Amino acid sequence: MNIIWHESEVSKENRQQLKHHKSAIIWFTGLSGAGKSTISSALEKELFKKSIHTYRLDGDNIRHGLNKDLGFKQEDRKENIRRIGEVSKLLVDAGLLTLTAFISPYRADRDQVREMVEADEMIEVYVKATLETCEARDPKGLYQKARNGEIKDFTGIDAPYEEPINPEIILDTNQLDITESVTLIMEYLENKGYIG
Ligand code: PPS
Repeated sequence: MNIIWHESEVSKENRQQLKHHKSAIIWFTGLSGAGKSTISSALEKELFKKSIHTYRLDGDNIRHGLNKDLGFKQEDRKENIRRIGEVSKLLVDAGLLTLTAFISPYRADRDQVREMVEADEMIEVYVKATLETCEARDPKGLYQKARNGEIKDFTGIDAPYEEPINPEIILDTNQLDITESVTLIMEYLENKGYIG
């Protein structure tokens, strides 16, 4: 109430022209240990080499600051993703190619982010690996803790992961290595005209 939107005199399109590339969210989703952080980080490095202005938001890091008040119950995860969606929307408005790496296990929460931005501004990347593979990798030892009952509501063990139905990109990390995954995304961005 009594809060009125103030239009900026410099538009998103102006900022994109300045940077010579489009802005959008590249939204990585998948189980813990599937490869979201590793691939998004490698992708960011590749984009930087091409002078593309990026910013990457990563689950573990954001939960140290902006979202440190949130846990892993469904309502907390929903709020986590809503806030990340809003922040990402601002970064897209700023003209950045925004990379996000969150489990984001609920389809409705990811779809809510999609609703926040224009149709071509959300590129959902499903980093797909079987639970068996992720559990075997267990880079942080969290699956072991979840199996031992030391962590509750762990995605894939005693909390759900809802696969994307129609993501823009699927990376099967049981098959692809990091370089191949990055190449696939770069090709997508070039073919769709996000970057030159
Ligand atoms: S979510 O579901 O999108 O809100 O989760 P996210 O913000 O991406 O945070 C996931 C990282 O938190 C660690 N962690 C857990 N993950 C899942 N379930 C539970 N209960 C949990 N507790 C801690 C874990 O390191 C996740 O990082 P990634 O990079 O996915 O392995």
